[in-house]
Amino acid sequence: MSDVSFAREARTLGPLTLVPFAHPQGCRGYLLADRSSRSAMAVDAHLDLVEDMAGRVGAEGWTLMYVVDTHTHADHPSGAGRLAARCGGTRVAHRKAGHAGVTLNPEHGGRLALGGSEVTVYHAPGHTPDHIVLVAEGALLSGDTLLIGGVARTDFLGGDAGQLFDSIGALLAELPAETLLFPAHDYQGRDSSTLGNEKRSNPWLAISERSEFVAKLTANPPPRPANMDDLLRLNREGVEIPASIAAAEAVRLVEAGGAASVIDVRTGAEFEAEHVPGSRHVPLDQVESHADQVRAAAAPRLVLCRTGNRAAQARLILDKLHVGGLSVVAGGLEAYVAAGGKTAKGKTRVSLERQVRIAAGSLVVAGVLLGVFVHAAFLALAGLVGAGLVFAGVTDWCGLGLLLARMPWNRAKSGAGAPAAGGTCAATPPAACAAGAPPPAACAAGLPPGKKPGGG
Ligand SMILES: [Fe+2]
Repeated sequence: MSDVSFAREARTLGPLTLVPFAHPQGCRGYLLADRSSRSAMAVDAHLDLVEDMAGRVGAEGWTLMYVVDTHTHADHPSGAGRLAARCGGTRVAHRKAGHAGVTLNPEHGGRLALGGSEVTVYHAPGHTPDHIVLVAEGALLSGDTLLIGGVARTDFLGGDAGQLFDSIGALLAELPAETLLFPAHDYQGRDSSTLGNEKRSNPWLAISERSEFVAKLTANPPPRPANMDDLLRLNREGVEIPASIAAAEAVRLVEAGGAASVIDVRTGAEFEAEHVPGSRHVPLDQVESHADQVRAAAAPRLVLCRTGNRAAQARLILDKLHVGGLSVVAGGLEAYVAAGGKTAKGKTRVSLERQVRIAAGSLVVAGVLLGVFVHAAFLALAGLVGAGLVFAGVTDWCGLGLLLARMPWNRAKSGAGAPAAGGTCAATPPAACAAGAPPPAACAAGLPPGKKPGGG
């Protein structure tokens, strides 16, 4: 199990243990396990959380019985299919989801057994028609129906604000105030709330009229989540993001309306000379320290270098850090351009490959000259460089290239990992997803324009 962990503090719910997992983009997933039988279920596993969740299941000696998606996620790739493949477990979703690979479609009131415990499923449409929530041992896993201080958006995937009002109302009427609330999104680091707290402080729950709730929830919808169409295809059809994709496919994804994130791992000099517009620059030697910024980029994440070798190395590094949804662009930027992809060009400097050739050649010449005119031992330098080049050719790993990539002249002028031409390494703003709700102060005065609920 890697030392990378998104797990939060485990909670005890009677005979059950609940482990929340917090993705840096704000998505929340959960493992819920019955301690006596060691039976467990996973809920809303983001693709990036799969390794962490699988590691926890293995470390605890749990048997994964169910892998649940509370609804069709539109803002992130679901890891349900991959987690079920890794750990076993029956895929669960509402029948209206129609996800490939899902074999259990509980109806409203259905129960999922975890050893001697039971988890009750409620159909709670509104955010999406296929939305379910889970209730067990005084806890509500609310998905994107009810958030802490907010409610979900309803402006895509057949969402219905009136249905959301009804679903939340039914849950509040049936479940006691002390019920713990665990939502599928939170952007403020909060792990839980209670229904009683939400009744007192959530401004959306202060709206008693259905028509007013609908009017305010549907006014001025925020932008759709980035890459929504591709994410829906992945989440519905269960298509894995491939380890590499052809350059022509990358061009199609990028130029069909920014349907993918491009992570460029070349040096700053190479990036400045030419790059895919809108791409994010994360040099290979900084990939590990910038993993969260890559994780913040919307999936599918296309990893690009000059020919594909450094991108493959970057993917391996990121894979160990549980950054999923990565595809290496086969053939790199050269193939991308050959396939008709558009690029932005800037100041051209000596390429890294030419720098390696110049440096290696210079060392060989220096070794020979010093060996002839100073001391024969210097001839070993030429031999050492030659051996290094052979090693680089055989293994495709070039230490001299990596060393040169760290040199100041190879760094982007705008700084390490700096964005360019529309790209950014900063975390994707949560506006497209669950953005919470107006602060309590806004409640008394009505909901201010521009304050929107969320739920991707
Ligand atoms: Fe959602």
